[in-house]
Amino acid sequence: MGNRIFIFDTTLRDGEQTPGVNLNKLEKLEIAKQLDKLGVDVIEAGFPIASHGDFEAVKLIAQNVKRPIITGLARAVKKDIDRAWEALQYAERPRIHTFIATSDLHMKYKLNMSPEDVLKRATEMVSYAKSLCNDVEFSPEDGTRTNPEFLYKVLEAVIDAGATVVNIPDTVGYAIPNEFGEFIRSIKNNVRNIDKAIISVHCHNDLGLAIANSLAAIENGATQVECAINGLGERAGNAALEELVMILKTRKDLFDKIENNIITEQIHNTSELVRQLTGIQIQPNKAIVGANAFAHESGIHQHGVLSCRETYEIMTPESIGLKKSLVVLGKHSGTHAFEQRLKELGYTNLSQEKINEAFQKFKDLADRKKEICDEDIESLIRQEIVHEKEIFQLESFHISSGNNLSATATVRIKNEEGISEEAACGEGPINAVFKAIDRAVGLEINLKDYFLKSITGGTDSLGEVSVRIENNGKIFTGRGISIDIIEASAKAYINAINRMLNNSEMISTK
Ligand code: KIV
Ligand code: ZN
Repeated sequence: MGNRIFIFDTTLRDGEQTPGVNLNKLEKLEIAKQLDKLGVDVIEAGFPIASHGDFEAVKLIAQNVKRPIITGLARAVKKDIDRAWEALQYAERPRIHTFIATSDLHMKYKLNMSPEDVLKRATEMVSYAKSLCNDVEFSPEDGTRTNPEFLYKVLEAVIDAGATVVNIPDTVGYAIPNEFGEFIRSIKNNVRNIDKAIISVHCHNDLGLAIANSLAAIENGATQVECAINGLGERAGNAALEELVMILKTRKDLFDKIENNIITEQIHNTSELVRQLTGIQIQPNKAIVGANAFAHESGIHQHGVLSCRETYEIMTPESIGLKKSLVVLGKHSGTHAFEQRLKELGYTNLSQEKINEAFQKFKDLADRKKEICDEDIESLIRQEIVHEKEIFQLESFHISSGNNLSATATVRIKNEEGISEEAACGEGPINAVFKAIDRAVGLEINLKDYFLKSITGGTDSLGEVSVRIENNGKIFTGRGISIDIIEASAKAYINAINRMLNNSEMISTK
């Protein structure tokens, strides 16, 4: 086993391919900054040729996030590589990541190319990428279902052409740990020039084995592992970064020679930021970052943990940055105390304008909620971090509902043309508010999903709502926070509508 493992984060590329995830460039930048704080070695910031938005996001991250390597994906096609380089050239440490499928299945049915043509294309395109950028990663897509002899040939050729990293993807999550470990070892033993490149792995979780496969690869010579926060990614997702890193830390006895750069105390913050911005919720029993990961429900367990934490706790909540929720601020706290608490929570780079806006929201909240916890402050701050252009804004709403009468809602919605006031009846207050908003904005919205979460315990907790709406086959996520769940719902719905309008040219109006 080598001693330094490079953590390559693909939350913003493969993770963003999770159905329904739609981040704008400022949100991607915020996540990239947090990944930098977390200590990842490489950030895959997007797939620049895929869309104008992806290109702009990769460029923005390349311009602003300077410590980690910034990479962008490109098919083994000249125009993809040019576009990737156009965005990446601003990075302090740029890397072009190019790929082509190498399994018989993909070459025949997807690419319609012969193995000879694929070998030639891979070599030429790595060479071309190398002429632009010194650091080039090559991925043979569907690597684990590729004929090994052909794979060795391709890897040898791309390394000769200048690839600095060869990444072996288990694209469809088909591999089994022992088999995958041996596969990596066989690459080490059969590719003549393999010592000139880093061996990387990229495991998908279709059979729930992404982490086990990544570990088997590390044990057999891989020194870069590709993962995503909260295990996001195509279909069942990618290897979850937080799981891999906490395994290496918790089982240091087994992985004593493996070092990595991750600051595990940043895991909770990173996971929460990604959850909130993507709108993809985390199952409560998810390892490391699920709400129950450190909860001890049964009396026996509670007793054990109180007597000696190690009885049922193999890692501490503090090691992933979970702090005991302290009641820190209230109605009488001033701006100085608020700013101080922000710094203690790690928000050191916020502009004065953002702090002032967040302080105003904090004051509004303090008027309605007696005790403001760290979780409340973090929620307010995350709301302030990213601005979607607010085409529509909620001015006010009124509802009337009960168990024996149908709910009615009136909303006042502001846009640059003025205020539109509409009313509607519905099956419950939220349905009525959403219908009234549809009328006020003049759109028929297709609501696909609605999710409500309380930020802290207690009946005066802040409610966080995320909604997903659909337009022309595209999903847009919106979120809203308020102590009043109807207000949080209305804000989330309007936020999703704004995102949709900011992103699409073709909106079907009534
Ligand atoms: O899963 C996969 O094969 C990929 C490659 C593009 C690396 O995401
Ligand atoms: Zn993938």
